[in-house]
Amino acid sequence: MATILVTGGCGYIGSHTCVELINLHHDVIIVDNLYNSSIKVLDRIKEITGVKPKFYQVDILDRAALDQVFAENKIDAVIHFAGYKAVGESVAIPLTYYKNNISGSINLYEAMAKANVKTIVFSSSATVYGDPASVPIKEDFPLSTTNPYGTTKLYNEQILKDVYVSDAEWSILLLRYFNPIGAHKSGLLGETPNGIPNNLLPYIAQVATGKREFLRVWGNDYDTVDGTGVRDYIHVVDLALGHIKAIEYALGHKGVECINLGTGNGYSVLQVKDAFAKAAKMEIPYQIMDRRPGDIATCYADTTKAKELLGWSARYDIDDMCQDAWNFAQKNPNGIE
Ligand code: NAD
Ligand code: WQD
Repeated sequence: MATILVTGGCGYIGSHTCVELINLHHDVIIVDNLYNSSIKVLDRIKEITGVKPKFYQVDILDRAALDQVFAENKIDAVIHFAGYKAVGESVAIPLTYYKNNISGSINLYEAMAKANVKTIVFSSSATVYGDPASVPIKEDFPLSTTNPYGTTKLYNEQILKDVYVSDAEWSILLLRYFNPIGAHKSGLLGETPNGIPNNLLPYIAQVATGKREFLRVWGNDYDTVDGTGVRDYIHVVDLALGHIKAIEYALGHKGVECINLGTGNGYSVLQVKDAFAKAAKMEIPYQIMDRRPGDIATCYADTTKAKELLGWSARYDIDDMCQDAWNFAQKNPNGIE
């Protein structure tokens, strides 16, 4: 049993990870400024697990407040989810993204070093592979980015690698998530983006609940099974369980490792639409549009390293993911409130 500080723990992936940590009797302390989440998430976590995590409404840009969190608690390790994540927005307001995701993270790493907490699991992204030359994508593929959001992930990876070079006491896992979707089985936790969703699943869910008229499919002229983009969708609960394995590994080893968290399977936009339609027992109307700038044709993970190093692999399939996303969307038409 360990005490884990979870930054961004009220968010989509963070909240599911807190549930799995608590299920395994770890002590969870959440730091979140609630920029993209609701305080009600804490009650939802309690409803699922019976435990309400300790919570600090703190911005990771506030170094003094972070120092206080470390001073008041005996923390063994950190899982760092806090950050902004909208690709398009990052192009429009890059400095805001660099400040939050880079300056905020450096604050956290400094506060950790000061408190002598040197074990961290960081939320990276498959976006650091840019447009990969081939699939499945292995961790040693070349890295590049096409937008400021992706660059914040790449820089954080580099910063943490440099931290390890400077001090071999650190234990650092850089988890590269593919496309997290789905929701907790209970329907109590899930994803509710503000405004018009950019990501595929939240958009389809809003078509299903009648909020949007039809799905806009961004291009059907890619070199894929049906011409639409192919991605490695992973159930958010599988991702959360991957973090459990990662934190357990990190607590027992020193070093720095990059690890893909995906299923290893690719699904096209139309295949996902069909899976959702099956789960919701309804047609999902759609229209083929032009390609979305910056999109790639195909992206899915080689998952060998996660299996070998962490003993983790994803369990849920695309039907489970759509079923759980639909359950959450129906139960929470206005998000977690
Ligand atoms: P999310 O927006 O639901 O959660 C992030 C949480 O961090 C939110 O609760 C937000 O309020 C909080 N936060 C943001 N800035 C903060 C700050 N300065 N101080 C304190 N809290 C702050 O996002 P998510 O989907 O759960 O993603 C979690 C992490 O995983 C992010 O770092 C994201 O970039 C990364 N990631 C997400 C995806 C995805 O598709 N969801 C894919 C790859 C990587
Ligand atoms: C998936 C597929 C779209 C919406 C993004 C970030 C990535 C990561 C996950 C954080 C693509 C198509 C989508 C729609 C569509 N986030 N699509 N109509 O672009 O793979 O990854 O989120 O790290 O960094 O770039 O995910 O869900 O936006 O798109 O046709 O309304 O669905 O073209 O083929 P993406 P996505």
